[in-house]
Amino acid sequence: MANADLEAVVAKIEHGRSARQFRRVFGERIFDDRALTFKAVLLALETFQQEPQEFYPYSSKYDAYLRGTAALSPQEQRGLGIFNDPRRGNCARCHPSALRAGKFPQFTDFGYAALGVPRNAAIPANQNAGYFDLGVCGPWRTDLKNHPEYCGLFRTPTLRNVATRAVFFHNGAVRGLANAVRFYASRDSNPENWYPRVGSSIVKFDDLPKSFVENLDTLSPFDKDGGAQPENERSRSRRCCGISASA
Ligand code: HEC
Repeated sequence: MANADLEAVVAKIEHGRSARQFRRVFGERIFDDRALTFKAVLLALETFQQEPQEFYPYSSKYDAYLRGTAALSPQEQRGLGIFNDPRRGNCARCHPSALRAGKFPQFTDFGYAALGVPRNAAIPANQNAGYFDLGVCGPWRTDLKNHPEYCGLFRTPTLRNVATRAVFFHNGAVRGLANAVRFYASRDSNPENWYPRVGSSIVKFDDLPKSFVENLDTLSPFDKDGGAQPENERSRSRRCCGISASA
C-alpha cells in the first residue's frame, strides 16, 4: 500500500494515533521487535477485514432484500430472475448473486473468462493493428505467456456499484451500463451492433487474434444464433419438461 518497506509501516503505526491501542492489545514492548510488529499489523488488518459491519457494510437495496428488510419491485424481480436464470441472462454463472453460508455476494466468482469485447480505437496502443491486450497471457502479464489457452481471458469483475461507472470492460470499449448488458444479449445474435463491417462481412471479435477465438465463452447468454428470439418466460416453460404451452 505504497509504503517503502516493513519499517515504514511499523514507524507509521508507532507514531500514529493507533499506537496506544496497539500497545494495549499486543503488549507494551510490541514496537521493540519490528518484524513482530509487522505481523501484528497484518493480524489487525485481517481481523478488520473479516468484520462485515466494519469492512463491507453492504447497504444497497439488494443487500436489504437479501436481509429480508426490503422488497423488490416487480421490474426488479424480473431483472433478477433473468440475471439468475441459466437459460436467459445466466449472469450469476460468473457473477454470483446469492447469499452463501451467510456471506453477501461479491458478484464475481474471481474466475477468468474471454468475452470478446470489441476493440477500442481510442486506446493509443491499438493504432498498431498487430497489438492485442490478451489479458491473462500478456503482454503486460508475463508468467502465462506460453499458455495460449489463457489468451483473451480477463478477471470477472465485481458488479457492486457497477451503475456508478461510465465505461465498461477491460478496454473501456462499451459506454453505458445498458449497453454493457446489451453486449451480452446480442454479441452473437446481432454482431453488426458491436463489430466493424469490412466489405460485406462483419469482423467479429476484432480485438482477439483468430487463433484464440476458441477461448471465447459460448454458453448462455452467448449462445443465440442470428435472428433468434429472446428467451422469455413463455418460450422457456413451453420447452421445459415436455409440457406444451396450452396444457
Ligand atoms: C462467462 C462468465 C460471465 C458471464 C456468464 C457474465 N459475465 Fe459479466 N463479466 C465477465 C468478465 C470476464 C468480465 C470482464 C471482461 C472484460 O473486461 O473483457 C465481465 C464484465 C462485466 C461487466 C463490466 C463491468 C465493468 O466494470 O467493466 C458487466 C456490467 C457485466 N459483466 C455484467 C454481466 C451481466 C449483466 C451478465 C448476464 C447477462 C454477465 N455479466 C454474464 C464474466 C461473465
